[in-house]
Amino acid sequence: MPRASTRSTRSGGPLPKTSGSDFAGVVESVGPGVSAFAPGDRVCGTALHTARFAGGSFADALVAPTDVLTPLPDGVGFEEGAAVALVGVTAWLGLLEYGGLAPTDRCLVHGGTGGVGHVAVQLAAAVGAHTVTTASPDRTRTAEAFGADAAVDYARGDLLETVRSRATDGYDVIFDHRAGEYFTFDLEAAAFDGTVVLYGGLDGEVELAHAALSKGLTVEVMSMSNLATDPELPTIAGVLRRVLELVDDGTIAPEIARRYDLEEASEAHRAVIEDSFVGKLLVVP
Ligand SMILES: NC(=O)c1ccc[n+]([C@@H]2O[C@H](COP(=O)([O-])OP(=O)(O)OC[C@H]3O[C@@H](n4cnc5c(N)ncnc54)[C@H](OP(=O)(O)O)[C@@H]3O)[C@@H](O)[C@H]2O)c1
Repeated sequence: MPRASTRSTRSGGPLPKTSGSDFAGVVESVGPGVSAFAPGDRVCGTALHTARFAGGSFADALVAPTDVLTPLPDGVGFEEGAAVALVGVTAWLGLLEYGGLAPTDRCLVHGGTGGVGHVAVQLAAAVGAHTVTTASPDRTRTAEAFGADAAVDYARGDLLETVRSRATDGYDVIFDHRAGEYFTFDLEAAAFDGTVVLYGGLDGEVELAHAALSKGLTVEVMSMSNLATDPELPTIAGVLRRVLELVDDGTIAPEIARRYDLEEASEAHRAVIEDSFVGKLLVVP
């Protein structure tokens, strides 16, 4: 696989043992056979955490195969590119490829202020789908500001009834990051012939309930990482290019909740696990 290496704008400092999936920077040099990129190109990419790659992106410089990186459009900054890469590819793949979301559809996105969720809401709204999302009690307005037609407090005791009342014939596409918690809920909320796309929270057992059969539902379980390893699927670069076009024209705006220095990367990891925030955390070398 041809490779290109990038170096972030700040050099120096100890190189950590690398974690991290997303990255953005300037191509420093390219390997033999690489013609799509040249030194000086602004790029971003994702999926460094798959089995194909030894390193991660919490570093001053990295080496990446060309099928996971994409040129940054002139109007998209490094921070936006790095913030949107993994979550944008996940939302695109889940809603458009697996979900087949269409403008006439009703779409439910769980957790519409999360990293993936806030981009998924923007994408579903841009498609033109009737978009309903859930959020913590004090963030429903934030979720609506991402373009949702309605945002429902996920802590409500009558969550299912309230979500159903926003689309009385059910949801054609449901995008779920907490499958262990919501799978049965999804089956109840789905429209006949709908599609439930599960992309997180699958650690425990998720049982295929009887409702899925009686409604003729399609249940998809997806991982964006497969794009980096399965030659049958589109490449990360191909999907990311389309996502970046939407960032460039203002359709999608990734939200950056906080920035950390590279030396604070462990603090960023801790925050991902323990804190609650809207959008993404950024580690800036
Ligand atoms: N399959 C894939 O390709 C793929 C790709 C990316 C991520 N993932 C997985 O998807 C999941 C989400 O990732 P992320 O980066 O978007 O995480 P995140 O940024 O932490 O977002 C999670 C969201 O879930 C919300 N939430 C918490 N409790 C909830 C509940 N009971 N009901 C509904 N929403 C709730 C949080 O809201 P509050 O903070 O306001 O409570 C937060 O907005 C993770 O498990 C991740 O590993 C999978």
